[in-house]
Amino acid sequence: MSVWAVLAAAGRGERLGDDRPKAFARLGDLPLVAEPLRRLEESEWIDGIIVAAPAGWEEPCIVLAEELGAGKVSSVVAGGETRAASVRNALDEVPDSAAVVLVHDAARPLVDDDVIGRVLAPLSEGFDGAVPVLALTDTVKRVRHDEVVETLDRDGLVVSQTPQAFLADVLRRASSGEGTDCASLVEAQGGRIKAVPGDPRLLKVTSQDDLDLVASWL
Ligand code: C5P
Repeated sequence: MSVWAVLAAAGRGERLGDDRPKAFARLGDLPLVAEPLRRLEESEWIDGIIVAAPAGWEEPCIVLAEELGAGKVSSVVAGGETRAASVRNALDEVPDSAAVVLVHDAARPLVDDDVIGRVLAPLSEGFDGAVPVLALTDTVKRVRHDEVVETLDRDGLVVSQTPQAFLADVLRRASSGEGTDCASLVEAQGGRIKAVPGDPRLLKVTSQDDLDLVASWL
């Protein structure tokens, strides 16, 4: 089973307050994107990698991949306006021979083989895709103009993370849609998605505090 990874690294990361895109914010001594790239490169599950880089940052991404010795990286493409568009651009470069595509946010640097194995397993059990999830521990409310309008029933609600794994043909068919993760596109097409245990360390970096926390876990 040939597994290709799409690394979505094309976000602007404005919330980090940096002049560089988030993928190039410093994590330790290297740009943030180096950590997930190295981990995907070293993963025994992954055969090839396509990176969606911020437009204009393709070249620094290629140089970084070379410096890391990331020989599985076959293309670095420019991302799009939305995450879904970035994933579409990358998917265009995934070879037809790929049976499975694993889509991962570069903003979640600490991906590892345990969670990759957990999302790949359901694809051999009749599922179209799998996502890592974490249970909600806080009470969830809907707020409009700073006023609480509803408290949701937390039962059965989870937050979803990446890496998310899909049968390649299913993801390709669903990829013309828009959504904040790939599973939602496949769900919209009636695909069956398995929820597997996530990992708190797959925190998505959105602020400098997140970056400092992830750096402390390195
Ligand atoms: O913006 P957000 O933090 O939700 O982005 C999640 C992931 O998707 C990040 O790794 C980001 O680089 C990526 N992304 C992308 N192209 C975009 C927007 C986000 O690849 N246009």
